[in-house]
Amino acid sequence: MISRYNVGVFFLVLVSIWVNIEGRSISQFLNEESEGTIWAVLVAGSNGWDNYRHQADVCHAYQLLKDGGLKDENIIVFMYDDIAKNRENPRPGVIINSPYGHDVYKGVPKDYVGEDVNAKNFYNVILANKSGIVGGSGKVLNSGPNDHIFIYYTDHGGPGIVSMPSGEYVFANDLVDVLKKKHASGTYDRLVFYLEACESGSMFDGLLPEGLDIFVMTASKPDEDSWATYCGEGTPDDPCLVKCPPPEFQGVCLGDLYSVAWMEDSDVQDRDADTVQGQHIRVANRTADGDYGSHVSVYGDIVVSFDRLSTYMGETSTNHSHASVDAISFSKSSKNVDQRNTELFYLFTKHQNAPEGSDEKYETYMKINEVMSQRSQVENKVKHLGELLFGVEKGEEVLHSVRPAGQPLVDNWDCLKSYVKIFEAHCGRLTPYGRKHVRGIANICNAGITSEKMATTSAQACSS
Ligand SMILES: *[C@@H]1O[C@H](CO)[C@@H](O)[C@H](O)[C@H]1NC(C)=O
Ligand SMILES: *[C@@H]1O[C@H](CO)[C@@H](O)[C@H](O)[C@H]1NC(C)=O
Ligand SMILES: *[C@@H]1O[C@H](CO)[C@@H](O)[C@H](O)[C@H]1NC(C)=O
Repeated sequence: MISRYNVGVFFLVLVSIWVNIEGRSISQFLNEESEGTIWAVLVAGSNGWDNYRHQADVCHAYQLLKDGGLKDENIIVFMYDDIAKNRENPRPGVIINSPYGHDVYKGVPKDYVGEDVNAKNFYNVILANKSGIVGGSGKVLNSGPNDHIFIYYTDHGGPGIVSMPSGEYVFANDLVDVLKKKHASGTYDRLVFYLEACESGSMFDGLLPEGLDIFVMTASKPDEDSWATYCGEGTPDDPCLVKCPPPEFQGVCLGDLYSVAWMEDSDVQDRDADTVQGQHIRVANRTADGDYGSHVSVYGDIVVSFDRLSTYMGETSTNHSHASVDAISFSKSSKNVDQRNTELFYLFTKHQNAPEGSDEKYETYMKINEVMSQRSQVENKVKHLGELLFGVEKGEEVLHSVRPAGQPLVDNWDCLKSYVKIFEAHCGRLTPYGRKHVRGIANICNAGITSEKMATTSAQACSS
């Protein structure tokens, strides 16, 4: 007769044989028992031709999840959708995400396009709050307790914010509050969030608590820009020598460095054997790229990253890797441009390639001057504001100071939101370049400057 004890031993032996054969951990074995549906939310937060790469990234992400076996009903896509049919597109109706890449646009669901790509819809989609959705397909993250969620966002950002093509910025505290609510609603098992933007670490640093079963990977540290890649043909002084985008793309970057790093990794890895943590290590290595890259950062529950990639992205189809580019060979050979400089890079390239004496040459020249002048204006205005508030000596120091890791950008987020509005009302809407100064505005809040003082000083700093 087999006693209860023996049954236990027998089971353990079976498990250990199984573990040895499969080379997987027991926790993965147990996880497999409860595996639910995989859901994904993909967001490109920009619009405009020179931001081609963000929508290209999101389309590529859709394709790799679709290849992984996710169903359209479980993938929710936010993209402005002004790229494929853009009059500047040298390949009408097509979007590529790498120099020799195939079309990634075909089949992408248009859940939230145009003005429907906004922060409110993003939050309500995550919370499955149908009544809060305006426009779009109405598709929401209707997940259950055993389900796994993958969220990917790519765009411009700034300290404590990421952008949307329409409506308000996504503020870090609001995003983290939404994730807390989602956790409290008990409608997922685990969640992985990849985010690419300048200063992307500041969206979670000191804000995302442990225990929400969420693992976050960001493209950059809280005080660091993120980088675009596959950018243009280069210039005579600084040529792009290998694996450059086709010349007709003229200074448009086809992808973002961190984004293509994880996606090309997912394209070639056996997602069923490899973990999120393994991907993190390879992606961090590729994204660092000497002086032309950023430092990938992680937040939340590291234990979640020990899950297999397939838990969040589905399994790689056996055929897919052959069609993919060799991720490693790209790592040091493609031109990267700081996301804050992509617009100028695009304009410089276009200007350089335009025929002498053409309208295009003149127009791009004027546009370059305009962008340069906007930049120096915002620098001067912010500098002046700092001097008025904190004195000529201290001004810049206070505005540029960076809080230590683990501390959020600002203590009072309502203050930050309202002071960004005050600044923009007096000094003009912050451009993707100018958004780096949100740190200065946060520091004004942290210094306890009153709302009245902020308003009068902003008016003074930006009057001329
Ligand atoms: C759903 O959206 C509506 C409208 O924005 C809002 O009033 C409500 O509080 C939201 N509900 C939840 C649970 O977030
Ligand atoms: C990064 O990747 C390169 C190429 O695969 C490898 O030679 C190098 O050792 C890696 N560096 C680190 C820090 O892992
Ligand atoms: C994989 O390739 C084989 C041979 O080319 C083909 O028959 C099969 O349909 C492909 N499978 C997928 C999922 O694309």
